Amino acid sequence: MRLFRVMSWAVAVCTLALGALGALGALATPALAKPETVLVFGGSGQLGAEIVRALVAKGHTVSIFVRPSSKLDRLQGVTFGQVQGDVLVEADVAKALKSAKFTVVVDALARGRSQGGGRSMESMRSDGEFYEVSERYISKAAKAAGVSQIILHSSVGAGDSRKAYPASRLAAMAAVLDAKSAGEKHVMDSGVPYTIIRNAILRNAKPGDADNAKLSEDQTKFGMVTRTELARLTAECIGNKACTNKIYHAIDEAMGLPAELRE
Ligand SMILES: NC(=O)c1ccc[n+]([C@@H]2O[C@H](COP(=O)([O-])OP(=O)(O)OC[C@H]3O[C@@H](n4cnc5c(N)ncnc54)[C@H](OP(=O)(O)O)[C@@H]3O)[C@@H](O)[C@H]2O)c1
Repeated sequence: MRLFRVMSWAVAVCTLALGALGALGALATPALAKPETVLVFGGSGQLGAEIVRALVAKGHTVSIFVRPSSKLDRLQGVTFGQVQGDVLVEADVAKALKSAKFTVVVDALARGRSQGGGRSMESMRSDGEFYEVSERYISKAAKAAGVSQIILHSSVGAGDSRKAYPASRLAAMAAVLDAKSAGEKHVMDSGVPYTIIRNAILRNAKPGDADNAKLSEDQTKFGMVTRTELARLTAECIGNKACTNKIYHAIDEAMGLPAELRE
């Protein structure tokens, strides 16, 4: 009888201990992101559309900021809202952020037309205005609207990652990288919690491609990542406190470098 009582106590103590461990385990595991209301700038673009798909698949409510001329073919079959405007018109950006209670803003903008077309050196120089101005307007409007997180897609070569940029390409890209550095600074100085994700060489994923991409705080590397991988990494940072006020470099080291950049 005594032995039975001792065993019962032992079982009860073990059960309590396991319960406590379970609770600790639950705390240690990152909580699933709660559904957010997200505005994606550049949502009609190659990267932006992948991000919209990834966020909708996770249960977030997503709207995109688009020009009246933007083509939405990349988003067929996806449910999303739209706000129209030109990101280089401050009133359009401010109006967009007031049009609903957005909790997260994602900036996947790139200068030019997302449907293709070559870019002259002249247009590369005017990229400078684009990144500095668009990120200034977005940061200001996001702060005024009480947004909880801005995720900015930027480039390796901006800010403290300049040293990682290949010297052979630097002269052609310096103006763009300066503008992206200034854009990053607007986001960092906005007072809105931010996540900056830089990438070096973006590729479209092919069916069957592995996903080995990681977010790293090592700003010395230069490599490739696919838009699908970058969209997954973006979705993982939405509402995730671990990503707050971080500058990451997204890279899939297994992809190596394109032939022209190999030593
Ligand atoms: N391509 C690369 O190898 C590379 C390398 C490093 C970093 N990145 C960065 O990765 C990001 C995405 O690149 P991507 O190649 O996927 O972009 P993308 O396909 O060219 O898409 C650009 C997006 O920006 C929008 N946009 C451009 N001007 C606008 C304006 N005035 N008002 C509103 N929207 C405007 C486009 O709208 P429309 O649909 O109307 O054109 C489109 O949705 C960018 O931050 C880029 O700088 C790219």
